[in-house]
Amino acid sequence: LRASFTSKAQKENNQNFNYKLQPQASYKVAVLGAAGGIGQPLSLLIKMSPLVSDLHLYDIANVKGVAADISHCNTPSQVRDFTGASDLANCLNGVDVVVIPAGVPRKPGMTRDDLFNINAGIVRDLVSAVADNCPDAFIQIISNPVNSTVPIAAEVLKQKGVYDPKKLFGVTTLDVVRANTFVAQRKNLKLIDVDVPVVGGHAGITILPLLSKTRPSASFTDEEVEELTVRIQNAGTEVVEAKAGAGSATLSMAYAAARFVESSLRALDGDGDVYECSFVQSDLTDLPFFASRVKLGRKGIEALIPSDLQGLSDYEQKALEALKPELQASIEKGIAFAQKQA
Ligand code: NAI
Repeated sequence: LRASFTSKAQKENNQNFNYKLQPQASYKVAVLGAAGGIGQPLSLLIKMSPLVSDLHLYDIANVKGVAADISHCNTPSQVRDFTGASDLANCLNGVDVVVIPAGVPRKPGMTRDDLFNINAGIVRDLVSAVADNCPDAFIQIISNPVNSTVPIAAEVLKQKGVYDPKKLFGVTTLDVVRANTFVAQRKNLKLIDVDVPVVGGHAGITILPLLSKTRPSASFTDEEVEELTVRIQNAGTEVVEAKAGAGSATLSMAYAAARFVESSLRALDGDGDVYECSFVQSDLTDLPFFASRVKLGRKGIEALIPSDLQGLSDYEQKALEALKPELQASIEKGIAFAQKQA
């Protein structure tokens, strides 16, 4: 994050913030589920962005205090709170980027799919409101199971006649963040330089880190590949167990989602060099949705990056084939849910 609180202008004069040294703060961002474990720190991190002019925080409860608290940070954006379904349209009006971390998180022993029954309906209703009020916005889904909630969102948008596959994203950035951290630690690399593409989906074996594509290039023994891949796939469960019933990853997730939001804002602002991994509609494999690196631009996804999937190691090729049935089933489950409700 190019955090505005570290700017030269602000160091020189904390009272009289000089916006001229900043990128233009002109984008409206809404966080749906803003009072939750992810929503609160994510909203704070978005408040630090010099590109945001308006930050709209929505939840079914407890969001007034979160907004009052965050609004005291002396960064450019105006913060407003919105509570309950009757206020959702006001929240979404004119928004450029909508981030959705609304829904229940895992407890120990649960898979992401166990959340389907509650979160599927929440995502359906929120995306339906997005379709009605800001159909051109970038829509970023954090709510699990992402492998199903993104296809649900796509169906809802299709039913409303406003589906733009270039603007619908499942947020898988945390998988990349974890892969980068664990690889840098294991190989003693400088953390800031490491970039590992993570493809597939966002649950268990559908999370496929492509260690052979690590930049800067690094070599791994077969044992290291197995150990790192399994750790990256199970990292969410590591946090769920450590929190022992108090939820799943929230702080690292907020960091990862804030990075994805900031990348999207930079792309909207005309930066021509923005790449992130995301779970999106895709033709890179025979699956209709697939996470891969994508190039972001003013109109959303400018290109999917196929090169990461070329020249895979045997281990990665086998893992890619192995994940497809589970990912396909999760996608179909989401589509069937949305079509049944139509
Ligand atoms: P949380 O329970 O702390 O917060 C969820 C928030 O959503 C609450 O404030 C709740 O009031 C709100 N909410 C519930 N129904 C709503 C509705 N209809 N409209 C608006 N807000 C609503 O949960 P936490 O930890 O913030 O997790 C949220 C979601 O993010 C979970 O589904 C979790 O599985 C997922 N997650 C996704 C990750 C990813 O990498 N994509 C990583 C970690 C969690």
